[in-house]
Amino acid sequence: MGQTGLSIQKRHPIGYYFLSQTKSLGVTIMKALQSVIEAYQIRRQFPYFQPHPEMRSLIYLDNAATTQKPYAVIEAVSHFWAYHNANVHRGAYGVGAKASEMYESARARVAQFLNASNPNEIVFTRGTTESINLVAYSWGMSQIREGDEIIVSEMEHHANLIPWLQVAQAKGARLVVWRITDDGRLNLDDLRNLLSERTRLVAITHISNVLGTVNPVQAICEMAHFAGALCLVDAAQSIAHMPVDVQAIGCDFLAFSGHKTYGPTGIGVLYARYELLQSIPPFLTGGGMIRSVDWDGAQWADPPAKFEAGTPPIGEAIGLHAALDFIDTIGREAIEAYEHELTQYTLQRLQEVPGLRLYGPQPDRAGIFAFTLEDIHPHDIATVLDNFDIAIRSGHHCAHPLGDRLGVPSTARASIGIYNDTEHIDALIEALHKVRKVFGYA
Ligand code: ALA
Repeated sequence: MGQTGLSIQKRHPIGYYFLSQTKSLGVTIMKALQSVIEAYQIRRQFPYFQPHPEMRSLIYLDNAATTQKPYAVIEAVSHFWAYHNANVHRGAYGVGAKASEMYESARARVAQFLNASNPNEIVFTRGTTESINLVAYSWGMSQIREGDEIIVSEMEHHANLIPWLQVAQAKGARLVVWRITDDGRLNLDDLRNLLSERTRLVAITHISNVLGTVNPVQAICEMAHFAGALCLVDAAQSIAHMPVDVQAIGCDFLAFSGHKTYGPTGIGVLYARYELLQSIPPFLTGGGMIRSVDWDGAQWADPPAKFEAGTPPIGEAIGLHAALDFIDTIGREAIEAYEHELTQYTLQRLQEVPGLRLYGPQPDRAGIFAFTLEDIHPHDIATVLDNFDIAIRSGHHCAHPLGDRLGVPSTARASIGIYNDTEHIDALIEALHKVRKVFGYA
């Protein structure tokens, strides 16, 4: 068992809410059973968790904000910069060709990871935010007309909300809000009532970065398509925690960030169906995205180059390639099953803390736990926990309208990754009891 408190024998054989939609329960469970995750062995693959003069020993529970990086990712990026650095798609010299090959190999790896039908459906961006802005400005600003409707849920991160507000305001379209239920879910019947012939897009998060709600994106995309609309999935919080298959989901656009997948910052992905990428104008213009230019105008290169103006994040794409390899070496079904079990453990233990109010559905949710504790300010909770070497986030989590709906401007938030285990959750619970004492709650 090593030092992780979870054993595979304790896992429930049924009931995962976000099982891979493409595989049968039997296959998934068998795969999970074959792959026992020992979180402490996984931590050994991360310098962040090793003793170092500049590091204090930390229980890192802020994985929804960003994940730590394994040696494999750091080494892949350093190796590229040390021995293969050159700009891509430009130099006729050998090193330039090798850099281009490595960059395109990262694109092919992302396509395979997402089960996209073609690497040319993968556009590299700086992150989820830029990916969604690309869709808003290239597709939205060119396709949305006055009177059209864009549906977003009440649990969206600002990254999947403000770009659509901007499009709606610029085009005289209407942003339609899909409200959450009191327990923090989305009801498909409500969506049915919101969809109409005016709907052009449903923009939906796969997993809420506050509530941990796992949305049924496959059904949502199907319903959007039935109404003649497109569907965009914000996979920032799901991509490193469960299998994500764009063909099984049936989405038109999907966005995620490298830094939440144990990869580098500064790299993000937009998946889009190829014919959509062909039919919409570029977002940014400049070098690398043209076929020809003269004083009368420019002809665009084919996608994805059309959407990658300027020097792209080359080393970061190569680091992302290594991060996806790291995830697949553990196995996404195994990660999903392990984190599900750790989530159930966390839900149970959080109940032991008097005065703690957890937001979001139970028990079917992902490992993101936003809470308030008595009337202690969430920032104070995070500060005291930091004194116990536990890192969590506090604040509005870039979801102001959701905070309004919940009636709390800010919450404390713990979120798990593949290197966390029950000992970390035990330490969190013990520290929360101490936080109560510090603030005078017996
Ligand atoms: N979107 C990230 C979060 O929710 C930064 O923390």
